[in-house]
Amino acid sequence: MPLVTFEKGGGTFTEEVPENANLVVRAGVKKFPWPHLRYGCGMGKCAKCACRVLSGAEHLPAPNWKEEKQLGPRLAEGYRLVCQLWLSHDIALAQDEQPLRPLGSVTGGA
Ligand code: FES
Repeated sequence: MPLVTFEKGGGTFTEEVPENANLVVRAGVKKFPWPHLRYGCGMGKCAKCACRVLSGAEHLPAPNWKEEKQLGPRLAEGYRLVCQLWLSHDIALAQDEQPLRPLGSVTGGA
C-alpha cells in the first residue's frame, strides 16, 4: 500500500492509503489526509488541491490537460493537482498555506 507523507502548516502527517487511492476522494469521506488537505471541486478546475511533490514524482503519470491548464509553469516547480492523481506508490507532498490561483477555466472534457 502506498505510504503518503503530507506536509502542511509546519506539520507532517503520514499514513498508508489503499492502492489506487485518490487523496481528494479520501478527504471527502473524512479519511486521511482529511482534515489537513485543502481541496475544492475535485475535478481539476479550482487548483485548491495543488501540492508540491517532494518525492515520488517519478511514479506519477504525466500531467493531464487540466493540470497543464491550471498549473502551467508551476508544473515545473513540482506542483500537481492531487484530485487528478490515483496513487500506487509512496509519495511525499507539501501543500502551501495559501491556495494557488488557477490559471484557466476548465469547461467540459474528461
Ligand atoms: S480540487 Fe479543484 S482542482 Fe483539485
